[in-house]
Amino acid sequence: MAIMVTGGAGFIGSNFVLDWFKETDEPVINVDKLTYAGNLHNLDSLLNHPGHQFLQADICNREEMREIVGSYRPRAILNFAAESHVDRSIADPRDFIETNICGLFTLLDIARDYWDTLPEDRKKSFRFVQISTDEVFGSLAQTDTPFVEGSNYAPNSPYSASKASADFLARAYNRTYGLPTIVTNCSNNYGPYQFPEKLIPLVIHNCLNRLPIPIYGDGRQIRDWLYVGDHCAALRLLLEKGIAGENYVIGGRNEVRNIDMVRTICRLVDSRLTPSALRRSEELITFVADRPGHDTRYAIDGTKIETSLGWMPQETIETGLARTVDWYLSNSPWVTKVTSGDYRDWVEHQYAS
Ligand code: NAD
Ligand code: TYD
Repeated sequence: MAIMVTGGAGFIGSNFVLDWFKETDEPVINVDKLTYAGNLHNLDSLLNHPGHQFLQADICNREEMREIVGSYRPRAILNFAAESHVDRSIADPRDFIETNICGLFTLLDIARDYWDTLPEDRKKSFRFVQISTDEVFGSLAQTDTPFVEGSNYAPNSPYSASKASADFLARAYNRTYGLPTIVTNCSNNYGPYQFPEKLIPLVIHNCLNRLPIPIYGDGRQIRDWLYVGDHCAALRLLLEKGIAGENYVIGGRNEVRNIDMVRTICRLVDSRLTPSALRRSEELITFVADRPGHDTRYAIDGTKIETSLGWMPQETIETGLARTVDWYLSNSPWVTKVTSGDYRDWVEHQYAS
């Protein structure tokens, strides 16, 4: 038996694979195209692990996907592969449509053909888990109740629209063909190995390098922050006990305004620097033009997964952020590698004005 993970060299996917092998020896077929966001160094600790098989391939490529699924015959597929950065989707949506919609369609179609050939018991236990986002539900006002599984879809960015389309395709493949799909809609993840284009690692990186810390608009937007290790635990549980055809929202029960998050990170980083380097990183905060279509607030009511599966986030924002800042401080070679080349071009393009 083996599971197949797509996008397993990215932030959440690599955390999932690393956590997986802490819990079990069951092999993982890890398929990733290695875009700018995919990084094999995330998986360095698995170099000699007999259960980890990495394959560089594109989920949009039907032949490659057919070959891989047919050869390895996984008992489950978890799809983490995606273009995931909202600002890049605003700058150029094309890759988001290709990978997040067409790629997911290709993967579902190949999975369906394969699943059709399985004996009844394996058909029943097979799972296709589509990792999605709470951003498909759009933006909440301050007084709105948090997102639940039945919330209306109202995506506002090309990224969230592409993820919403993917959710509907996964649902349709379950309702129409019986493929046992599960869709998970999680809130903003943070933790080790996150590419520093996203808010939390960007702020840590800029604090350490004395660079301006850009805050879009007034910084009062709210996100619900989920520590990546908690998310991975929820996914492992859903893989075993989640009900096919259903969706689950997953959140950290940690709603924080961007400006408060940034100030907390600044203080955390400052507190860990040696006295000679003492400085007030908050002075680097720079308010910049708002993101077009910027969602005001995301929040999750995770009662379904909490009560039906007994999952609860273990990290508070204080403990999770402290672990994250410490990880970035101890892994500067990783940061140096990922912030060379393409990363610089992106920062220049995004923050030039
Ligand atoms: P990421 O951008 O860090 O990683 C994505 C990975 O997918 C990379 O390794 C990349 O190389 C790979 N990939 C991209 N296109 C591919 C293709 N065509 N074929 C094969 N591989 C491809 O993303 P992430 O933050 O790890 O997010 C993983 C999933 O979780 C995504 O589906 C994302 O939408 C979802 N999600 C992320 C967050 C978050 O806060 N990071 C929150 C909610 C949902
Ligand atoms: P991000 O990490 O890009 O995640 P998402 O857009 O998927 O929520 O951004 C988190 C929040 O931080 C979001 O409200 C946008 C804001 N933000 C900034 O204020 N400045 C930045 O430079 C970035 C990247 C994000």
